[in-house]
This record gives sequence, C-alpha cells and structure tokens, in this order.
Amino acid sequence: MALFITFEGGEGSGKSTQARLLHQQLKHAGIPSLLTYEPGVTRLGEKINSILKWSQDTSISPVAELLLFNTSRAQLVSEVIKPALEKGISVVCDRYADSTTAYQGYGRALDLAMVEAVNKIGMSGLVPDITFLLDIPPEQGLARKGQNIDRFEVESVDFHNRIREGYQALVRAEPQRWCVINAAFSKEKIAEIIWGKIRPLLPK
Ligand code: TMP
Repeated sequence: MALFITFEGGEGSGKSTQARLLHQQLKHAGIPSLLTYEPGVTRLGEKINSILKWSQDTSISPVAELLLFNTSRAQLVSEVIKPALEKGISVVCDRYADSTTAYQGYGRALDLAMVEAVNKIGMSGLVPDITFLLDIPPEQGLARKGQNIDRFEVESVDFHNRIREGYQALVRAEPQRWCVINAAFSKEKIAEIIWGKIRPLLPK
C-alpha cells in the first residue's frame, strides 16, 4: 500500500531536508516515491505561492490566506498526490493542511472550526498516514534562515511561538498520526528516527 507521509514544523526546522532524505531512502529501498511540497508544484500552486510568500504590494487578509493555501492544496491533491497514490507511489509532502491549522489558525488566530472546515475541502478527504513534526524553538529556527526572508519569516517571535503551540495541540488531538522529533538532533540522527518509523509500514 502506498503511504502518504507529511512533514511539518516551524521555520528553519530542517523538515525539507528530511523530506528529501526520506524520499531518497524510499527509492533506495525500491519503494516508488514522489517528493512534493506546499504551497506550489502545480502551475496554479506556483502562482499562489509567489503571492503568498513574496508579494509586498498586495494586502492579504488572514481569511484570504486560508483560502489561498487551500486552493493550492486542492490542486496539488487532485493533480499530483491522489494520482500518485492511486498508482501505488508513496508520496512525501513537505507541509500539508496541518501547516494551515498552525499558521492561519494559531498564528493568525483565525477561528479553528472555520480553518478545519476549509482544510477539509482543500484536502478532499485525503489524510496523511503519518506526519513528522520537527520541533524547534522559533528563535533557533529563525536564526538558521538566510537573507531571503518571506512574508511569514518576518513575523514576530510571538507569532512563531503560537504556531509551535498549535502544532503541539494538533499532536495532542491525534497522537497516533504524529511523530515528534527534536530538530536539534543531527541531520543523520533525525533521518534514522524517521526511517525507523517508516520501515515497519512498508511491504515486506
Ligand atoms: P516554506 O517553503 O519555507 O515551508 O514556506 C512556506 C511558508 O508558508 C511557511 O512560512 C509556512 C507558510 N504556510 C502557511 O502559512 N500555511 C500553509 O498552509 C502552508 C502550507 C504554508
């Protein structure tokens, strides 16, 4: 059975590196795998990504942000993720709907029931089999970022602390789906923990 695996975390948590390493490890083990990310990938997603992350002259309300992320997600699910899973290809996705709950729900303080309802539409019923949270204090994560700072990275440490708390609330609500990893561990150790969780889920 193809797996749908997602990676979550605050800024500078190293989740993109780990998503890539897991994708390579799966391929190495002979498991067909596709690496993808949010927001972006599809043509529509890339346009939305550039508005959401980089537009400086366009005001975007929190509700508009919620809808835009989910518009990009709906396209990614229907154009990329579902077709891959249907072909038996496991999908590793860097960010998914939990990012919206953490960033727009907790970070932007939108009504959580509304966020959940809109996420449900964006996900089109597709829930991850397992989600890795790379947990890092925001001060440390933001310090790992380079010069190119996007619309979310310029936000206050309070904003990023609310996101971290949001992730923790999501883990408490659905502990069976999540695997929380301290992002301060070395890249190699984190990859080993992740592989230790994934290997038993793979066909023998
Ligand atoms: P990244 O490529 O650094 O992960 O950038 C994506 C940014 O978009 C990151 O700051 C998190 C933010 N984001 C949201 O606010 N809501 C979402 O639903 C998603 C997928 C990302």
